[in-house]
Amino acid sequence: MTATGTATARAFPNIALVKYWGKRDESLMLPAAGSLSLTLDAFATTTAVTLDARAAADRFELNGEEQGGDRLNRVARFLDLVRERAGSAARAIVRSRNEAPTGAGLASSASGFAALATAASAAYGLPSDPASLSRLARRGSGSAARSIVPGVAVWHAGDGDETSFAEPVEAPDMRMAIVTVDERQKAVSSREAMRLTALTSPFYGAWVSSTERSLEAMLEACRDGDFTRIGRITESHALRLHAVIQSADPPVRYLSPTSIAVFDAVVRLRDRGVEAYATADAGPNVCVIARPADADGVAAALREFGRVRVVGPGSGAELIPDGGAAA
Ligand code: DP6
Repeated sequence: MTATGTATARAFPNIALVKYWGKRDESLMLPAAGSLSLTLDAFATTTAVTLDARAAADRFELNGEEQGGDRLNRVARFLDLVRERAGSAARAIVRSRNEAPTGAGLASSASGFAALATAASAAYGLPSDPASLSRLARRGSGSAARSIVPGVAVWHAGDGDETSFAEPVEAPDMRMAIVTVDERQKAVSSREAMRLTALTSPFYGAWVSSTERSLEAMLEACRDGDFTRIGRITESHALRLHAVIQSADPPVRYLSPTSIAVFDAVVRLRDRGVEAYATADAGPNVCVIARPADADGVAAALREFGRVRVVGPGSGAELIPDGGAAA
C-alpha cells in the first residue's frame, strides 16, 4: 500500500443486537464474546488525516474545536499503533466532524475510530481491506470494528488479533426507531463500566456464556431471515446486559424510568400485533427494531417518550475520494 499523506473517510455508528460487554485482553482489545450489530445510515463521522512530517505532536480537531486531554491522547495512541505498523514517524492533523447530536447516546467512538482507522490507513499506507481495517478500528474502540462493515455485522471474538474482526451477515431488512429519552452525557463510560462488571459481577461468567449462545442463535435467525426470532433475542439479550451491569459493585444503572417505560410500550405494541423489539446501550436511550412497513407506526407510538428518529442499514466505512472537507 502506498501512503497518500492525506485521506478522508466516513463511517456510521452501529447499534448492537447482541452486545459486546467485557474484554478478555485489554491491550489487544479482544472481546470476551462475539457480538452482532446494525450499522446505521445516519449520524456519520467524517475524518480527514493529514500527515505533517515537521510537527512535534498529533493534533485533533472535533467539530472545529481543537481537542486536548484524554480525547487527544486516545487519538494519538491509536496513531502510534498506525505509525509503528507503517514504519513512519510523521505526526498527523486529524479533523473530525460528527453528525450525531451531542449526547444523543449514539456510539460516536464506533463511527469515530472506524473513520479514523480508514483515513489513517490510507494516509500512512497500511492495508485497506475490510478485515484489516476492522482489526485496526477495534484497537481504538471495540465496537468500531463493526462500523467498518455495512448493514448487519458479526464481530468474531477470535482467538487472537488476527481472527478478531467484523464481517457482513445476510439478514432481513429492518429499521430502527431511536428514542432519545435523555440528552445528557452518561456518567460512567462503557469502557470503565465493562471493566467494573467483569471484575465484580457475580453473574459475569454467565453473561459471557449466555452471550455466546445468543450470538449463535442470532446468526441462525439471520440466516433463516426470521425477524421475530431476531427481535426476541435482541430484547432479552439487552435486558440481560442491563442486569449484569446493575450487578456490578458498585452498581451501575443506565436505564432511567423513561427507558423502562419505552420497553413496556414496546411490549404493548406487540400485544396489539405490531412486531417491535427494544434494546439499549450504555445509556438511557432506547433503540427499537421493526420491519420496514411497521417502522413509522412504531415511531409514532413512541414519540410521547422523547425525540424519535427512524434509521435503516447504512454503508460501511469508506474513503471519500475527492477528500471531501471534514472540517
Ligand atoms: C454497550 O466499544 O465503546 O455499546 O471497546 O472500551 O471502546 P471500548 O468500548 P465500546 O463499548 C460498546 C458497548 C455497548 C455494546 C456494543 O456496542 O456492543
